[in-house]
Amino acid sequence: MKRPGKDDPSRPREDGYEYKRDFYRSDSVAEDYDFHRFSSPERQKRNVRKWAAIRKALSQTTGVRTILDLPCGTGRFTGALAREGFEVVGSDISHEMLKKAASIPDGKQKAIYGYLQANAEHLPLRTDSLDCVVCIRFMMHVDAATRVRMLNEFRRVSRRWVIVDYRHKYTFRYVLTHTFGKLGLGRSPLDRVSREDLEQEFRDAGLSIRSVIRVSAPLLSDKWVVLAERA
Ligand SMILES: C[S@@+](CC[C@H](N)C(=O)[O-])C[C@H]1O[C@@H](n2cnc3c(N)ncnc32)[C@H](O)[C@@H]1O
Repeated sequence: MKRPGKDDPSRPREDGYEYKRDFYRSDSVAEDYDFHRFSSPERQKRNVRKWAAIRKALSQTTGVRTILDLPCGTGRFTGALAREGFEVVGSDISHEMLKKAASIPDGKQKAIYGYLQANAEHLPLRTDSLDCVVCIRFMMHVDAATRVRMLNEFRRVSRRWVIVDYRHKYTFRYVLTHTFGKLGLGRSPLDRVSREDLEQEFRDAGLSIRSVIRVSAPLLSDKWVVLAERA
């Protein structure tokens, strides 16, 4: 069986939020996305761990019925959230990714309330529209100032809860890339947050952090799932 490779259409060729915002607006990228990201056993395991962390965050909330899954991409978690009994709207800036999410054929996605093409920077939703915004595998593409603007938008449209995943700097990999990058060797240091950065960004957006859930083993995985509520 073909394995995910470096030449796959959905593998981004550049870093940076503006590039990523446009990159997924393509049928070939949307078509290849799930294969590239989730087909190998290791990636499937990561997927299971991420979903477990999201469920843990949700288990610490109260009163959540309606969820905005933003950006939903090809619907990786949209159907899973709906199957947990939530009323879910999947949203993404890319019409192509939304089309792919909506085309999942096996009926798994049928509890989904709908899909909405939207930019996370200016959501076309009223204040207090739903109970929770879930935002996964996105903030690592976005610079700190834009992240705060987006968190502000999430706070505005959510009556109370926001669940967002972040990438932090407390890993061996970060220390290595940082050290070599500073010496001008290897790639430039990864853009990752400290716990203080995280607290500051959420505070600036009017959100209080309720819990920071580690997705995987300390020092090896750089993923946190953060549960926050309106301050
Ligand atoms: C890496 S995917 C993640 C999707 C999904 N949450 C997942 O875990 O598979 C990133 C998605 O962000 C979307 N995106 C990029 N910029 C956006 C923006 N400003 N507003 C909404 N969606 C955006 C892209 O179209 C893409 O589908």
